[in-house]
Amino acid sequence: MVGEVQISGAKNAALGILAAAVMADEDVIIRNLPDVSDVNIMLEAIAGTGAVVKRLDRHEVLLNGSTIRSHVVDNSYIRKMRAGYYMLGAFLGKYHSARVALPGGCPIGVRPIDQHRKGFEALGAVTSIENNMICVEASELKGAYVYFDSVSVGATINVMMASVFAEGRTVLENAAKEPHVVDVANFLNSMGAHIKGAGTDVIRIDGVKKLHGSDYTVIPDQIEAGTFMAAAAATRGDVLVRNVIPKHLESISGKLREIGCTVEVYDDAVRVLVNRELHSVRVKTLPYPGFPTDMQPQITVVLSTAKGTSTVNETIFENRFKYVDELMRMGTNITVEHGSIAVIDGVKGLKGAQLVATDLRAGAALVIAALAADGDSVIDDIEFILRGYEDFERKLRALGGDIVMGDDEKEAKKFFLKANAV
Ligand code: UD1
Repeated sequence: MVGEVQISGAKNAALGILAAAVMADEDVIIRNLPDVSDVNIMLEAIAGTGAVVKRLDRHEVLLNGSTIRSHVVDNSYIRKMRAGYYMLGAFLGKYHSARVALPGGCPIGVRPIDQHRKGFEALGAVTSIENNMICVEASELKGAYVYFDSVSVGATINVMMASVFAEGRTVLENAAKEPHVVDVANFLNSMGAHIKGAGTDVIRIDGVKKLHGSDYTVIPDQIEAGTFMAAAAATRGDVLVRNVIPKHLESISGKLREIGCTVEVYDDAVRVLVNRELHSVRVKTLPYPGFPTDMQPQITVVLSTAKGTSTVNETIFENRFKYVDELMRMGTNITVEHGSIAVIDGVKGLKGAQLVATDLRAGAALVIAALAADGDSVIDDIEFILRGYEDFERKLRALGGDIVMGDDEKEAKKFFLKANAV
């Protein structure tokens, strides 16, 4: 891969921000939205509650929560996209009542919601599960002290939203520090919320009576950027990744340097190039600012052709190495111990294969592997990838990747990749 790529808005920030936007009864404009299926389904789910959702252009939307008539988000949306559960925090905060379909099992692990419930209950809500719906109700919400037993992005954002209108002060301890938590807090503050400390592990929220309109731009996507950085490394290329916040990429840049890549950092871009042999390292996924679990499959692909034996220890999700079976068909030498540690013996090269994307990030990692491989590959079930990467194949083609998406009805869910990408 050689050239430049422009990173889109952060999917995971956008999902929280869209839910938070309808907590105001005035017009809110959100810019730099990524045009990916998760975001588009979230917009449909919000429109389904009666809110005004007006697409201004491909990356901009106007929302207004004053017309909401239903506090229910049903299964037809949640089946396809998990983050619909952010409507729980938003509607509990605003209307003291919400019902959202229980997110189904996810390919990467169990993904419980106990910490979300614990936070809502601390604020005074009663939570229950009825007919596969999570129900939250409160007669009043009062600021409270919440200590999260595990660091959860979703629970931090959800409880932060629910507490925006709670009377008095809420303190969230052991909060997640991910860039998208900070972006949702900044957005809520732009609507008049009083949130301090987002980005640290203690967030304080002083309740306000109402939120007003806002015009807000979503941050760039840390994981999309990291994925292109990994693609540059795996294909021994030279890629300038533009429109990023380099601070958010430090754990990824640091690891790629340790592997032997050159990483140059600019104000809003990073360049990754490979001009020497790559070698093995140890990686452990951790909450931010640690190495992101959402970059675990991509870094595994990079390490699969790096000299020596690497280990990748997944500490966030218990079932995130399913894709290794797919990688093995490309000639990698990886064993997974106890389901959580991949031991990777670097091989000289990968060969093309018929592959199936098992989840969003694993799917992206398989695409990277196929671009680095000798021989043609076909990747099936790419709707997982389209959930989170805007114009993925177009961006890769611009970097010299020979990749096309099947364009008839039967092949629409596949990527076809040809050998010897730049
Ligand atoms: C978010 C991201 C996802 C990323 C993950 C970790 C979105 C839409 N998704 O997912 O891409 O992989 O953060 O960075 O932003 N947990 C509990 N109880 C709970 C909630 C979580 O035990 O109530 C556990 C989970 O099982 C997991 C860990 O906490 O082991 C982290 O999960 P969490 O941060 O909540 O992930 P999500 O918000 O679902």
